Amino acid sequence: MKDILILGIETSCDETAASIVKNGRHILSNVINSQINIHREFGGVVPEVASRKHIENIAVVVDNAFQEAGLGYNDVDAIAVTNQPGLIGALLVGVSFAKGFAWALGRPLLAVNHLHGHIYANVLEHGDISFPAVCLVVSGGHTSLLYMKDINHYKVIGETRDDAAGEAFDKVARFLGLGYPGGPAIQKAAAQGTAGKMKLPRIFLDKNDFEFSFSGLKTAAMNAWKRIEKSRELEVTDLAAEFQQALVEVLVEKSLKAAKINRVESLLMAGGVAANEHLRFLMKEKADQENIKVYYPSLALCTDNAAMIAGVAYQQYITKSYAPLELNAHPGLLSL
Ligand code: KG4
Ligand code: ZN
Repeated sequence: MKDILILGIETSCDETAASIVKNGRHILSNVINSQINIHREFGGVVPEVASRKHIENIAVVVDNAFQEAGLGYNDVDAIAVTNQPGLIGALLVGVSFAKGFAWALGRPLLAVNHLHGHIYANVLEHGDISFPAVCLVVSGGHTSLLYMKDINHYKVIGETRDDAAGEAFDKVARFLGLGYPGGPAIQKAAAQGTAGKMKLPRIFLDKNDFEFSFSGLKTAAMNAWKRIEKSRELEVTDLAAEFQQALVEVLVEKSLKAAKINRVESLLMAGGVAANEHLRFLMKEKADQENIKVYYPSLALCTDNAAMIAGVAYQQYITKSYAPLELNAHPGLLSL
């Protein structure tokens, strides 16, 4: 059978990314232009700035993806693009570019849900995952537990009622003056501190369901910081360590419970927060005790990238589930 080459484009937040993936499995190029340094001075992503930077970068990033793969424009069979969820202005840059590119080359357009891409990053890296599985999706905007019959079927079995895990990391880091993006900043500070010197709440841990809530933990961490900032009875690193521990414990306990109740042998992690070292370590340690196999992508494929978009779109190409050129972008999650 002929090899299928898909160009993936990702512009949902602050990374302009393009990648070419062969047969949904082999990454031929993976180019990421991150705007982190631009948004850092504002303490978070400024949507309008992100959109404008995507416009400046997109053509160069796509060209680089072709160069890295050693391919010409006409070599690709389809163009895949993230069209939801994300910052609307940012998404529109990728969607508009992809439409123009697909039309000019006479190739089909494939619309990709960003979260499906994050989940698929696991398959890109570890092809041999046995399904059914439970997947913990933890990104900047979403936190959900999914039951997956196979890689194409997702059933939400629990989600956050308020802040996403990544959002809590980002907001707490900003409040503690640790910088942006908050997840890596808290992870770094936490490595210098000790969890447990003070106690933050493990919210919903005792509830017998798969719902999450992180806004109370966030507020508790901020209030603790107001108390100790001047007195210095504790270091900011100790608070960061306790915050990370409280959040990670809940994610790990609930994910393992979901895996056990659903009798699955595979537990997947997806999204930017799955890059967290402590989460990876604790999930693996606890899952090993239950004979459950944990999968997470390498760091480069865990945070936003376009290889996961080009990879997951392969199935849509095979089933001819093409998107029309009227394709629109959606800031929220239409469905999983
Ligand atoms: O998936 P992602 O790159 O973008 C979205 O789709 O949202 O996730 C970004 C989120 C941010 O909240 C960031 O702080 C968090 O992932 N993150 C981390 C780590 N690296 C990124 N959170 C905790 N620990 C990390 N090492
Ligand atoms: Zn993402």
